[in-house]
Amino acid sequence: MKADLIVGIQWGDEGKGKIVDLLAQKYDCVARYQGGHNAGHTIVVDGKTHALHLIPSGILNPKATNIIGNGVVVSPAALIKEMKQFDNLLGRLFVSESAHMILTFHTLIDQAKEKLRGDKAIGTTGRGIGPAYSEKIARQGFRLGELRDVDTLTARVMEYFAQNKAIFEALEITLPSREELNAELSEFSQKLVPFLTNTTQMAWKLMDDEKKILLEGAQGTLLDIDHGTYPYVTSSSTISAGACTGLGVNPKDIGKITGIVKAYCTRVGNGPFPTEEHGDTGERIRKAGHEFGTTTGRPRRCGWFDAVACRHASRINGCDELSIMKLDVLDGFEEILVCVAYEINGEQIDYMPLDLDNVKPVYKIFEGWDKTEGVRHFEDLPQTAQTYLRALEEMTQTKIGIISTSPDRNDTILL
Ligand code: GDP
Ligand code: IMO
Ligand code: MG
Repeated sequence: MKADLIVGIQWGDEGKGKIVDLLAQKYDCVARYQGGHNAGHTIVVDGKTHALHLIPSGILNPKATNIIGNGVVVSPAALIKEMKQFDNLLGRLFVSESAHMILTFHTLIDQAKEKLRGDKAIGTTGRGIGPAYSEKIARQGFRLGELRDVDTLTARVMEYFAQNKAIFEALEITLPSREELNAELSEFSQKLVPFLTNTTQMAWKLMDDEKKILLEGAQGTLLDIDHGTYPYVTSSSTISAGACTGLGVNPKDIGKITGIVKAYCTRVGNGPFPTEEHGDTGERIRKAGHEFGTTTGRPRRCGWFDAVACRHASRINGCDELSIMKLDVLDGFEEILVCVAYEINGEQIDYMPLDLDNVKPVYKIFEGWDKTEGVRHFEDLPQTAQTYLRALEEMTQTKIGIISTSPDRNDTILL
């Protein structure tokens, strides 16, 4: 059976966790395929909030197994910490033996480089994501499977430290001694080796046995290393294609693709954001949507829905459907704006140019509505909200399959 996929369409934090958790009830397995603990996926069930960073959002469904695929960069320390909130994970959580590790020094490099960048900082989460992926591509990374032989791994890391001594000195990074490193890796080994496996083989077997897999993207399309607003992006392939390399499924293995998108836009970290609202409107959206990062607590930048970017993202991911999140956050606005084109050098364009820094949004204005919060049936939405949603479908050339009207699992409209 083909695997279905959930992907972020904007700059992350669209509400992927809520939808993966909701859909996971009908899946046998949920798999993460890229990113690391820079992700923060929030799930609210019966008033209780769960924040997940590395563990797939299927974990609250007791029947689903969960995979962390080879394309994820795994901080053993962060994973061990996150695992503590769940009982009996053995047999429910499987981690790729070929996923690369984020070790403490990757995190220190990330933070030191951000400091050096000054006002050109990317605004990373400081979790070591960029350095871990860089070293993977440079073919000098460390993989989880190496935890099976801690002494050899310790020797390899020490050798890496020696080879890169000048860099660590320049960045004023203090490295652990051989003994400290060995002790830390031994703890990681003891706690994580039982969970390691060949997750590609596992995914193939599940599909061959007609089991249903849900692929859970992290971050969002506009943060993709190739297709995002480079260099203000993350270091992985966040688009649907990333699932192929990040789990080992082939493009033909992928079934339905659902793009997760807010009814407005947010971004955390630096970089271009054409529809950003700096004044009262931005503040009002931030407050209503509780737009503060799950991972770092930073206030998210807020603005109007960008239909040009969404259409682009929908095409690049091959979205069959969109899931429109946080419609309720726009409750009470008299007018709601949607960016339908960009203006650049006095000309109007309807596609995303390479440089988003100098585009000005061209807006279409929609009439607002009083309340959508908690609505569970499309026909119960105010007429103006229905008009807004139908217009989004047309402008993004993608049909809407899901509408979300509160953080709660149950406040969801399935079309
Ligand atoms: P993710 O990274 O894509 O999983 O998204 P986050 O969890 O970082 O951010 C989305 C936030 O919006 C979380 O706090 C969710 O609980 C919340 N949320 C999700 N859907 C809705 C919704 O429809 N309405 C409201 N008000 N909040 C929502
Ligand atoms: P989820 O999965 C929103 C952003 C950071 C920064 C840029 C690079 O919750 O949607 P990194 O630490 O990855 O090198 O930072 O990417 N970023 C996210 N923004 N949601 C996320 O994940 C993000 N993960 C990274 O803020 O701008
Ligand atoms: Mg998030």
